[in-house]
Formats: sequence, C-alpha cells, structure tokens
Amino acid sequence: MSGNYVLEMENIDKSFNRVPVLKQASLCLEEGEIHALLGENGAGKSTLMNILGGIFPADKGTIKVNGKQVEMTDPRTSQQLGISFIHQELNVVADLKVYENMFLGRERRNRLGLLKVEEMCRKTSEVIAGLGVEIDPKAYVRQLDASYKQLIEIAKALLQDSKIIIMDEPTTALTEHEVHRLFTLMKNLKAANVSIIYISHKLKEIQEICDRYTVLRDGKIVGSGRVADQNVTAITKMMVGKSVSEERFVHNHAAGREMLHVTGLTSAGRFRDINFTLHAGEILGFTGLAGDGRTELFESIFGFNKTSSGSIEVEGRSVPINHPKQALQAGIGFVPKDRKENAIIKDLSVYHNMSISALSHFERMGFLQPNQEKSRFHHFKEALNIKVHDPKVTIDKLSGGNQQKVVLAKWLEVDTPILVFDNPTQGIDIGAKREIYQLIVQLAEQGKAIIILSSEVPEILKVCHTIHVMYQGEITAKLKRDQANEDEIMKYATGSKREVEHIG
Ligand SMILES: Nc1ncnc2c1ncn2[C@@H]1O[C@H](COP(=O)(O)OP(=O)(O)OP(=O)(O)O)[C@@H](O)[C@H]1O
Ligand SMILES: [Mg+2]
Repeated sequence: MSGNYVLEMENIDKSFNRVPVLKQASLCLEEGEIHALLGENGAGKSTLMNILGGIFPADKGTIKVNGKQVEMTDPRTSQQLGISFIHQELNVVADLKVYENMFLGRERRNRLGLLKVEEMCRKTSEVIAGLGVEIDPKAYVRQLDASYKQLIEIAKALLQDSKIIIMDEPTTALTEHEVHRLFTLMKNLKAANVSIIYISHKLKEIQEICDRYTVLRDGKIVGSGRVADQNVTAITKMMVGKSVSEERFVHNHAAGREMLHVTGLTSAGRFRDINFTLHAGEILGFTGLAGDGRTELFESIFGFNKTSSGSIEVEGRSVPINHPKQALQAGIGFVPKDRKENAIIKDLSVYHNMSISALSHFERMGFLQPNQEKSRFHHFKEALNIKVHDPKVTIDKLSGGNQQKVVLAKWLEVDTPILVFDNPTQGIDIGAKREIYQLIVQLAEQGKAIIILSSEVPEILKVCHTIHVMYQGEITAKLKRDQANEDEIMKYATGSKREVEHIG
C-alpha cells in the first residue's frame, strides 16, 4: 500500500457470541480527506470504528497509523495516536455542566491545582461558537435539547487537536443550519490536513462533503472509490444489494372523522397560539429549525409539560392532559426522539423493550405470555427488517438503527388511534426508511391519525398530506403537499415569510 495513508485497517474480523459481524474488513484513509463509511443498519460500521477507537479489540487483522502497526488496547491508546471519536450514541454526562463535559478527564488546573474554570468556559464558548451556536458553558447538559448535546459531543472532539476524527452519525439530531456550520468546519479541518471518517445515512451529505467512500454490507467491504465517480443510486444499490426508488408515496385516501383538535395552545416561552385539526387517515407533518418549538408542543400535548392556555379535543371531547397516562388513555401515542434518553431501557431485552408500553397485551391474569410476546416481536422483525440474532440480549447490543426500529415497534404495538412520531427515521438506513414510510402510510390507510415531526424536509414531503412549518414557537405556514417544496418551506422556517391569513 502507498505511504500516503494515515490509517490502514486491514482484514479485520470481529464476532460477537460467535456471530461474525466483520469479515476481512479493510479501510484506508488518506491525509486530509473526508471518507464516507456507508452501509445498512447493522452492517458493522460502528463496530469497525469501535475497534479503531480502542473500545474493543478485533479478533483478527492489523491497524497501521502513519505506516506503523499499532495495538489499540484501549480508548486512551487510540486518543494518544491522535484519533478522536464522536460516538453515535451520545456520551455527554447530563448531570455535568457543558464545560465540565468538554474537559472531562482533561481538566485544566493552575499551579495550585485549582480548576481554571473561566479559561475552560472561554475555550468551550469559542469551540461551540465555531459550530454556529451559542450555549452557556455553565448550563447543565440535562437542560439542553438533543441537538445541543450532539454539538457538545462534536465540540469535545474538536478540542483535542486530532489528526483523525471519527464521526459516527454526527448530524442525526442537527437541523440544516447546524449541519451547514459543521460542514464548513470539516472543510477547515480538511484544509489543515486532518482526516475524517464520516458515517451517515443521509446520502446528500455524503455527496456534498465526502471525497471517497467505503461500503460495508453484512460485515464485508463491497465497494470503495471516489464519491465524484458514483451517483447515489449506484451507492445505494451497493449498500442494500438492490435498487431503492425515491418517489413520493401516493395515498389519496379520504380523511375520516376529526380525531384531534387543538385550539389556541400556548406555553409561555415555548409556543404560542397553536391551532390545528387532525383527521382519521390523515398524516400531518411539522417541520422547522432548531428552537422552532415543535418538540415542546407535542411534549405538552402528550402531557410531559404543562401548557398555560388553550384546549385539546380528542374525537370531539375536551380532554385535560397533564400526564402521559392521560394522553395514552385519550388515545394519543408518542414516539419520542433521542432514544437513548427517552425511549429504550438499556438493561432490558429486545423483546421486553418492544412490549413494555403495551404489557397488557401480553398479560393474562397477571402473568406475562412469552409466546405471544415472541410472535408479535417476530411480526415486527419481519415488517421493519430488524436485524437481531437473539432478541433475548439486552437492547444496547443492537446497532443504532435497529434500536430505533424496536422503539417504533413498541409504539405500533401500543396501537393508539392517534400516533405522533418525533424524528421517526433518525439513524435509519435508506432501504429501511422506505419500509417505515410504507408502514406509516398503511397505518393511515387503516384509519389511524398520524403526526410526523421531522427536521428532514424531504421526509416530510414524501409522506405527509399537509405540512406545518414552525418558527420560534408559532406555525408560520400550513401547506398542502402539492404546493410545498424545500425552498418554500425553508422561507417559512427561517421566518422570512409568513402565511398569516391561513393560520387558524
Ligand atoms: N456489543 C455487542 N454485542 C453483540 N452484538 C453486537 C454488539 N455490538 C454490535 N453488535 C452487532 O453487530 C452488528 C453490527 O452492528 P453495528 O453497530 O456495527 O452496525 P452499524 O453499521 O453501525 O449500524 P447502524 O447504521 O444501525 O448504526 C449488529 O448486528 C449488532 O447487533
Ligand atoms: Mg452504527
């Protein structure tokens, strides 16, 4: 191999419980390149990067950094070799302040051993400002939105002056604006000869920012080359093993009776005068930029937070919702974003994570019915193509995208007439995304009333009948999907345009 590579991973094998996950996987990284690592959910991308990051060892194979063979025995060794790692599952500590997270284990002290708090805060603000956002370095991470947590994770890696940066799905919780700033930053790093390994399921990002790509399928390398020489269709085909079409979904079934009617809903500082109606069989979309208030709005409708005024009617009846239990009783299900904090229970099996919210379906006279639980799980495993060798293992053993599919299965099993999905396809590969859209459309055809919150405008355009755009806590437009396009939506999302007369 040529001497220009800063990193050569060769013939890496890795098995978990005798199930091979990587089979002779190889990856070479040039100096100052952005290299896309692609593949379906469960293909082995994070596993290969965990080996590089010293999280766990490979069973076989070699790793060379700057031409010299190395043993990645632990994360510290990897860091000392100039490699930093932005993890797919966020690793920030909720009960620490932002700056404490940034300098965790590398605190700066003066000669007397006292912490240089102000200096650390200043540096934190500086790096985060480089990403185009303002976060108070002394705020507790717990209080921040998921997108900010992701930015802190990125900023932490940038603090280290690394030569190689691994970014495992860094943009899942980010909006376009923040993604754009991240890309500018990546270009600057590249100009300073830093090499980046970039994992993402958003192929548009890959085309925009990456120089070369490597594709993994079922743990094997099935292709690599220059991004400029390939189109998206060909790359997708390599990943999935077949073509995936990109068309919108046609579902013109008539909307049924009124299911959810929200009037004048307001929560001081979060959202203002929200009005909309959702019918059976309808799919409504809500989109906008960070800080648009859409997640807060639906967290309130689901009873996580209190609203200060306004009303919620379900099927014509006014319902007080002060707790998620009341929302569930009223027939509203909510699939939250940020699965690590809100949606999965790490120490429970895959089976139980699916059934936990709908335990009554699997119970008879107080006893759990494991066979029924199993058969329902296998139904969803098929429908959503969940990749798991043994559903009795704890859910944290699944790849990120497959965990997300279990979260979806859990809420589909609850089977409420109204379903709200917040970023439903976060971290899900392009083939499986299609399956999930199809499933959502099917549910609507069966008469469910559905709301999708998403920062991915193409996703909203693909499945929703009507698109609500939010800006700073208000709905600025309601667009029928035939009238909507990305540019138009962006104008309303940035507040540069308002469709006042239609609101209400
Ligand atoms: N600690 C573990 N124990 C057992 N199996 C594991 C463990 N970590 C990963 N796996 C399995 O290895 C396979 C590859 O997982 P990996 O996380 O590398 O996928 P990925 O390509 O990153 O997918 P995604 O796009 O969903 O993040 C999966 O089948 C997963 O269940
Ligand atoms: Mg992964």
